[in-house]
Amino acid sequence: MRPIPTRARALTAAAAVSIVAGAGAVAVAGSASAAAGCRVDYSVNQWNSGFTANVTVTNLGDPISGGWNLKWAYAGNQTVTQGWSATITQSGQNVTATNPTWAASLATNGTANFGFNANYSGTNTAPASFALNGTVCTGNVPTSPSSSPSSSPSSSPSTSPSTSQSPQQPGTKADNPYAGAKGYVNPEWKAKAESVTGGSRVSNNPTAVWIDRIAAINGTTGSSSNGSMGVRDHLDAALAQGAGYIQFVVYNLPGRDCAALASNGELGPNDLPKYKTDYIDPIAAIQGDPKYASLRIINIVEIDSLPNLVTNTSGQAGGTAMCDTMKANGGYVQGIGYALQKLGALGNVYNYVDAAHHGWIGWDSNFGPSADIMLEAAKASGNVKNVHGFITNTANYSALREPFVQPTTTVGGQSVRQSKWVDWNQYTDELSFAQAFRNKLVSIGFDSGIGMLIDTSRNGWGGSARPTAASTSTDVNTFVNQSRVDRRIHAGNWCNQAGAGLGERPTAAPASGIDAYVWVKPPGESDGSSTLIPNDEGKGFDRMCDPTYTGNARNGNSMSGALAGAPISGAWFPAQFAELMANAYPAL
Ligand code: GLC
Repeated sequence: MRPIPTRARALTAAAAVSIVAGAGAVAVAGSASAAAGCRVDYSVNQWNSGFTANVTVTNLGDPISGGWNLKWAYAGNQTVTQGWSATITQSGQNVTATNPTWAASLATNGTANFGFNANYSGTNTAPASFALNGTVCTGNVPTSPSSSPSSSPSSSPSTSPSTSQSPQQPGTKADNPYAGAKGYVNPEWKAKAESVTGGSRVSNNPTAVWIDRIAAINGTTGSSSNGSMGVRDHLDAALAQGAGYIQFVVYNLPGRDCAALASNGELGPNDLPKYKTDYIDPIAAIQGDPKYASLRIINIVEIDSLPNLVTNTSGQAGGTAMCDTMKANGGYVQGIGYALQKLGALGNVYNYVDAAHHGWIGWDSNFGPSADIMLEAAKASGNVKNVHGFITNTANYSALREPFVQPTTTVGGQSVRQSKWVDWNQYTDELSFAQAFRNKLVSIGFDSGIGMLIDTSRNGWGGSARPTAASTSTDVNTFVNQSRVDRRIHAGNWCNQAGAGLGERPTAAPASGIDAYVWVKPPGESDGSSTLIPNDEGKGFDRMCDPTYTGNARNGNSMSGALAGAPISGAWFPAQFAELMANAYPAL
């Protein structure tokens, strides 16, 4: 939720994108000659309206002799115009490349290389997966079906799970825990939503339960800012509702929120041991209770933490000593590693690690390094498969789609990336960022079955201020400012943003690579107080929540754009909730 963009990087005329693709995890042999494993390297050189793709497929399974085909689907309107070294056909978004007659076989470890030209508009998102002769390419040969937490439902392991040393419960996790499941409605949030006129229109949507301090595990009776039911109370209520999934936010790292003040927590920078024994262990004990085995328990793990170690250490604009400390003492990486290990070991529990948002890590200088530190934390858990996926835009306001401002859009001969608003970012919206970040994560070693979540609780940007067409200005800054649906003063603003609306309602599997749109930040709960308010939760006063603040290096010295009259973070802010409903997009 804390955005903190960094400065511009050099623009290259033709963006080169290279990914290693694969999705799903278990090979399902369709015929005797089907590959038992495969890997695809897909790279493009693109310009405004077209691209050239270069594809190499490696057969990691049995030799193929009777011909091969490679299939994929585009999420956008990519249209193949001409291919070479393969016959390429397209039907809607589905593309098939078939071997040339002179190269019908593909030995084990053999490769075939082909290419094509294509047109597109909007975002040129790489395919989320490829299949060779019907087998999804996961990049490796599946040895033990049970080792994958994300197998396709059609896969039926015929061998018994091997003698795994891992505590992971075998083969029980759904690829997408949101698919076909009803979400738990938090009755405490529902009551608050219904206390505002018109709130019953949205109060039956699932929102996440934030375990934002140790006392929240058992529930509190007194001064909590955002609820008093404990973890068991919520799980019991979920069973009573007949819910299929429930969402928690695990949010209590030592030295929490190292780059800001509004959501500082109760644990000091050296409290990693306490985090483990007094916070994660009790949560794991409750979530692991067999009583709750029928629920898919989804944990959003430690928002705003790892990217802060990449972008907000000292020496960078706005860097802090606390982020230096948390990087040096390993509290974030080890704490997250421990949480992933303990919670990932439970067969019905799904970990989604927070991955900031495009306005924070959408620059080349921090995109890859953020993925790398996430891999470090996952490895600290002992098994990267303890991570089921990632979430972007948690508690932030970045638009899901910017229909009129895409990275490839040019105005008067200039790329919109040169505008002050985009500031050379590689992305202008959250959906394209989340899909690209997923590809990046898979390419560096995360499981090819990972899925993304996007927090759409407050990124709707509807209402009368929403542009309905692209600007006709030929000045790049004017064009972008008139055309963008995100109406913030600066993309680095994050606190109680004026003009924001509810975004897409929670939805399973809405787009390629995306497990769900979710409401993780409960709409109407404050991001931070507008003035200093004493409290017993460790919450500070961050001037980014003060509407009179004129900004700092991290938000281009812009006004904060925050609403006045806000209570401390997590506390109910009815005026904000009313505005979010009024500006909902889609409208209510
Ligand atoms: C903020 C608060 C936290 C609260 C959450 C959800 O991050 O710091 O206490 O639970 O928002 O509203």
